[in-house]
Amino acid sequence: MTRVGATTAGSRRAVGDMFADIRTSLEGVERRLQEELRSRHDNVDQVVRHGYRLGGKRLRPALLLLAGQATGELTDAHETLAVVVEMIHTATLVHDDVLDEADLRRHVDTVNARWGNETSVLLGDFLFSHAFYLAATVGTAEACQLIGKSTNRVCEGEMQQTLAEGDLSLSEDDYYSIIDAKTAELCACCSELGARFSDADDQTVAALASYGRNLGMAFQIADDLLDLAGDEQATGKSLGRDLAKRKMTLPLIHARDTLVDGPRTSFLALLEQGTQVAATVATLKELGSLDYARGVAQQFAEKAAADLSCLADSPAKATLEHLAAFVVSRQG
Ligand code: IPE
Ligand code: IPE
Ligand code: MG
Ligand code: MG
Repeated sequence: MTRVGATTAGSRRAVGDMFADIRTSLEGVERRLQEELRSRHDNVDQVVRHGYRLGGKRLRPALLLLAGQATGELTDAHETLAVVVEMIHTATLVHDDVLDEADLRRHVDTVNARWGNETSVLLGDFLFSHAFYLAATVGTAEACQLIGKSTNRVCEGEMQQTLAEGDLSLSEDDYYSIIDAKTAELCACCSELGARFSDADDQTVAALASYGRNLGMAFQIADDLLDLAGDEQATGKSLGRDLAKRKMTLPLIHARDTLVDGPRTSFLALLEQGTQVAATVATLKELGSLDYARGVAQQFAEKAAADLSCLADSPAKATLEHLAAFVVSRQG
C-alpha cells in the first residue's frame, strides 16, 4: 500500500493535493456550504458561519465523491449529499466540543468557548436539521434513511463513550464498538452513498461501505494517538481531552493490560488524575503502546485498501488507496 507522509505544511495542504481530481466538485461543496448555512439574523449568522471560516479537511465529502467517481459517474445528487455529510459531521463536532470541554477546533475558538454550551447545542441542532432538509431534495428517501440511521449510531457512540467516562476498565472490544459507532459509521455511510448514487451493484456498494468503515476505524485510532502525542498547531484542535475526561483509548488500554501489580496501580492512579500528559505518554512509549495502536490503525487501513480490490483501476480508486495510508500517517 502507498504510504503518504504528512508534511509540516499540514494535513490541509496534503489533503488538498490528494483531492486534485475532485477539486471542482469540492469547490462546489464549499460554495453550497457557504450559501446554505446563513441566517437573516446577524448575530445568528455569525455563529452559523463560524465553523466554516477556516474549514476542516473535508474528508467526508471527498470520500463520498471519490466513492461515486470510482464506481461510476458523479451527479448533482453526489454533490448535494457531500454537503449534507459535512453538515452532519460539523454538527457532531460542535456537540463533541461541549462534551469534551474543548476550546480549539479547526484552528479557531470552539463555538462553546466563544458563545457557550447553550449556543453550541442549538447550532448542532441547526446543522443536523438543515442537513436532513437538504438530503430530502435528492428525489429519493433512501439518502435520508441511510444518513438518519448512521447519524443515530454516531450519537449512540458518543453516548456510549460519555457513559464510559472514568471507567478505567473499559475493554479493547468496547473501545472498538465505540469508535465503530461514533466515527466509522459516518465514513461508511459516505462511501456507501457515493457508490449507491452511482448505481453500483450491491456487491460494490457493500465493498465501498466496508472500505469507509475500515478507514473510519483507522482514522479514529490515529486521532486518539494525536490526542495523546500530537501537536495542537498541526491539528488545530484541543488535545489531551481524552486524558482530561478519563476516556480510555487504545494506547491507554494496551498499557493498562500490559502492566501488572504495583506499576499497574501507579499507572491507573496517573489516569485517575488525567492531567499528567507527559508522564502518561512516557509510560506509553516505554511499553510500546503508541506503536501497538499505530499498528492496529495500519491494519484497518490495509483492510480498507483491500476492500477496493473489486474496483477497476482509476484515478479515484488510487486516491482512495492513498487516503487509507494518509489517515494513519496524518499529523492533523
Ligand atoms: C475529527 O474529524 C473528528 C473525528 C471523527 C476524529 P476530522 O479530523 O475529519 O475533522 P475536520 O473536519 O478535518 O475538522
Ligand atoms: C470525535 O470524537 C467526535 C465524533 C466522532 C462524533 P473525538 O472527541 O475523539 O474527536 P476530536 O479529537 O474532538 O476531533
Ligand atoms: Mg473531541
Ligand atoms: Mg469526543
